[in-house]
Amino acid sequence: MNNVIRQYRKVIGVVLLGLLGIFALVIVRTEPLPPTMDTLYLDSTKPTEVRIENLLAQMTLAEKIGQLALVEKNSVLAPTDISRYHLGGLLSGSGSKPADNSVDGWKAMIDGYQAEVKQSRLGIPLLYGTDAVHGHAHIEGLTVFPHMIGLGATRDPELVREVAAATAADMLRSGANWNYAPNLDQPRDIRWGRVYEAFSDDPTLVSELGVAYVEGLQQGGTASGTAIGVLATPKHFVGIGSQIWGTSQNKNFFIDQGEVAADEVALRTEYLPPFAAAIDAGALSIMVGLHTLGDDRVIRQKYLLTDVLKGELGFTGFLVSDWYGVYEGKTSTFIATVQALNAGVDMVMLPFDYRTFVRNVTWANRLGLISDARIDDAVRRILRAKFALGLFDTPNEAAAETVSDNAVRALAREAVGKSAVLLKNTDNILPLRPSTPRIFVAGGSADNVGKQMGAWSIEWQGIDGNWPLGATSILAGIQAAVSPATKVEYRADGVFATGTKAAIGIAVVGEKPYAEGWGDRALPILDEADRIAIKNLQAVADRVIVIVVAGRPLLLAEEVTAIDGLVMAWLPGSEGAGVADVLFGRRPFTGVLPLPWPLRSEQLPITTTGVTADGTPVLYPRYFGLLNNAN
Ligand code: BGC
Repeated sequence: MNNVIRQYRKVIGVVLLGLLGIFALVIVRTEPLPPTMDTLYLDSTKPTEVRIENLLAQMTLAEKIGQLALVEKNSVLAPTDISRYHLGGLLSGSGSKPADNSVDGWKAMIDGYQAEVKQSRLGIPLLYGTDAVHGHAHIEGLTVFPHMIGLGATRDPELVREVAAATAADMLRSGANWNYAPNLDQPRDIRWGRVYEAFSDDPTLVSELGVAYVEGLQQGGTASGTAIGVLATPKHFVGIGSQIWGTSQNKNFFIDQGEVAADEVALRTEYLPPFAAAIDAGALSIMVGLHTLGDDRVIRQKYLLTDVLKGELGFTGFLVSDWYGVYEGKTSTFIATVQALNAGVDMVMLPFDYRTFVRNVTWANRLGLISDARIDDAVRRILRAKFALGLFDTPNEAAAETVSDNAVRALAREAVGKSAVLLKNTDNILPLRPSTPRIFVAGGSADNVGKQMGAWSIEWQGIDGNWPLGATSILAGIQAAVSPATKVEYRADGVFATGTKAAIGIAVVGEKPYAEGWGDRALPILDEADRIAIKNLQAVADRVIVIVVAGRPLLLAEEVTAIDGLVMAWLPGSEGAGVADVLFGRRPFTGVLPLPWPLRSEQLPITTTGVTADGTPVLYPRYFGLLNNAN
């Protein structure tokens, strides 16, 4: 042993000296004392950039680093940590809610957190984020709008703007000021579990509706005439929807969190334009995806995050990472943090552990691995959004828009009707006459509001069943739309009392709720029970209409040939009556498919120009939809 030490003593000496040097550097680089408080940043008459610089100049390193942390509320170890660590934001991950899951319960919870940050020296307000991706659907009893794919089918930016504004109003009432929406992904493969979260696979439509959604969310702030309402977050930057089946980096998934082939042309002509449009519309935060583009995760690509997005596209807001995304695929949280922040991520979503994050950034800065300038840049961007939201200013309640609950439900019902796509209508069976004497209804989605809403409703994966308050099932909508003399009978399995027959059978079939990679399916088809229900119904009804309640087109070429009418209802949300509106001609069918409907799985993926993988024609092309007049 002694020999070894003797042999290597020079090397050991040099290493020890080096370590001592680094240690000395770190110690010497002590925090400057906070300067005397200057409250200019609280003066709303001053320009935002002046306010930002004034505040930034007064912040210590610890206060700056805290701003970069976005913590899942259930992971906050002690309420006092919010001010102690100067946290920049909190979020309710999907399904994370207060014990009192009402608007007032949320408001009390979030106000409590905001009161906590007020205890800190500079009192920088929190961003409070959540996924209100189809209304503020975390809260039981609030209106749930169609998922975005349904909004895509409407191709109606004005409607989308109103939906977003109504969502923002519900969020603001509950104290939340930040929405992880709109989703600008472009699904090219229906096997993916997130198809329904996107508007379309057409970059032009995604841009148009994305802009409308950003504007709708951000309009109508209450703090002052100029403040934005709720901070929008276009996501997921960039290229998502084009992952290749079987490349998921998550062992439980197949395509979600997978790899996108890097192609500069596609990047610039397909994936970037919706983000560029959203930035022009005033987006001040953008979420980076969990996927890989080319040979690395996007979260670590400086070229995409800093050079292209912040440089070329002139994005002045902040980049937030998605869930555990900064750390995915890395064993060292330290190295992962250094890479992501230097690539251009400004705020890190921390579902579990913020103390390690704060420690990592502090040490990385001390060691010169993350520069002061990079930290200042990130903080500036986050503060810019906070000032834009008017969080530092006294709320002007008079500016708050109040929309009655009935008006919001009517808006959602309109959206449902406009999103429904008529795909087959033999002999104009639709619209149905409300005075049809007897209607048989079957299928697992007819009387199941949970299936109608899909995931991201109360729980991350949604709830299968008839649980929510105030919502209307499609069956209830049908029952309310017919004349008093009409008999509507319902059997999920399509088996009715022997001997009875009906002129019309309506099968409402589809998918169970699922979110993210849990919805990846090699073969998206109807389940056995629904297929049998259609067959049973065909035996007892003269003519059968199938309504699909699903997050994506399903492979059902076989079923289609044998039925008289086919309607795609997507995931319509809480207002099932909107489906009855188009069935019974209270509203004409105007919806069109926002993405192609494949015939078989060999056709997947389908390019944005509609070219299938095996070169054969799809069942219905993008923008197909039969239009028919109302009664
Ligand atoms: C999803 C994001 C979402 C985030 C926060 C992630 O799992 O990919 O779309 O915004 O969770 O809930």
